[in-house]
Amino acid sequence: MTVGSSASGRRSNAIVEPGEAVASTQDALYRRIDLDLSWSESELPERVRTKHVHRLHPYLGKFIPQLVEALLARHVPGGGRVLDPFAGSGTTLVQALESGYDACGADVAPFNCLLMHVKTREYNPFVLESELRDALARLDAFDGKRAAGASRFVRDWYAPQAAAELLFFRALVDDYEHADVLRVVLARAARSARRTTHFDLDFTRSPQRSPYWCHKHRRECKPVGEARRFLRRYALDTLGRMREFARVRQRGREASVLHGDARELDFGSGFDGAVTSPPYPGLIDYHEQHRYAYELLGLDECRELELGKGSSKAALRTYVEGVAAVLANVRGSLRTGAPLVVVINDRRELYPEILERAGLRLEERYRRHVNRRTGRRAGEYFEDVLVARAAL
Ligand SMILES: C[S@@+](CC[C@H](N)C(=O)[O-])C[C@H]1O[C@@H](n2cnc3c(N)ncnc32)[C@H](O)[C@@H]1O
Repeated sequence: MTVGSSASGRRSNAIVEPGEAVASTQDALYRRIDLDLSWSESELPERVRTKHVHRLHPYLGKFIPQLVEALLARHVPGGGRVLDPFAGSGTTLVQALESGYDACGADVAPFNCLLMHVKTREYNPFVLESELRDALARLDAFDGKRAAGASRFVRDWYAPQAAAELLFFRALVDDYEHADVLRVVLARAARSARRTTHFDLDFTRSPQRSPYWCHKHRRECKPVGEARRFLRRYALDTLGRMREFARVRQRGREASVLHGDARELDFGSGFDGAVTSPPYPGLIDYHEQHRYAYELLGLDECRELELGKGSSKAALRTYVEGVAAVLANVRGSLRTGAPLVVVINDRRELYPEILERAGLRLEERYRRHVNRRTGRRAGEYFEDVLVARAAL
């Protein structure tokens, strides 16, 4: 899909003409652009929203590549280098590469950085395929014997056979040049193989050890007992998705991934624009959602640096100061006059203060309707796109 048209081929109209709509106060114009950046399920089906590497691993709280595509075309026309300080699963980076930009993304959560790195680097497809197939052949030959060294988490959340298969696969990833790709496959399989109900994969509470009534399938289901089939399915799916992305990414464009606290990271300078979606206060714990990955891959956590934890008065203050510090840091990395585009649901109206603290001037603000067909969250949902530039 190209910018300016929807998946259904509908032509979308630019809402704001260049030069029009520049407001001088934080209370700048506020537009609904439902027809422009709001897509229905039939216009933009899930398989298109999660095309190629966007679906290498589940990630709760990402925006869709078509939104990034439209925002880049509208606000950073002509290519260049794009920054995302809260890059999460790497949607901005992947779309930037597809749209012909170089990109830099940062995130405080190590698993997110691993995922972004795997999505955006270039591979020799023959080596990648032969390594994945070799790992699967070794898995096929595995006798399923109980593996030593299972942690408490692994013993609690996996049936013995699933645990043995995951730990066997983990033990072999380091034998390969593309070990990080195998780690992402392992994490994805570890998510699916948990002892949990089919309808609770996003918000697991405690291990489900016995058969249960499944709301999703409307019958009795059993918790998963093995991991092998997920490892196989996801290894092959990963291969296909990487090939697909290799076909559409623009030649010569690169992405870099920085791990750390975006308040303090040195992003470099001269970026032509930033497109980002900060965490929303009290909504998603970005470390906890991938707990199984941290446990199985032995990644260090940086929870204390993650912004958006809690929604108490004190937590909101920390949030405002923290996000403002990140955006100020981004401002210093942009070339003069370059835009910072922030996608946010600001129902607490924190962003006027955040932008001011960050030394930014709100230039445009518009609203989009978010299609939430997937997941269990009900109700209409809107988010705002704020376009800001360095205050004069
Ligand atoms: C809303 S998500 C971004 C999702 C992203 N747009 C995508 O499509 O995948 C916000 C991200 O900010 C990250 N984050 C939170 N605090 C951070 C900090 N201090 N520095 C850098 N990243 C941080 C979280 O780990 C999370 O991945």
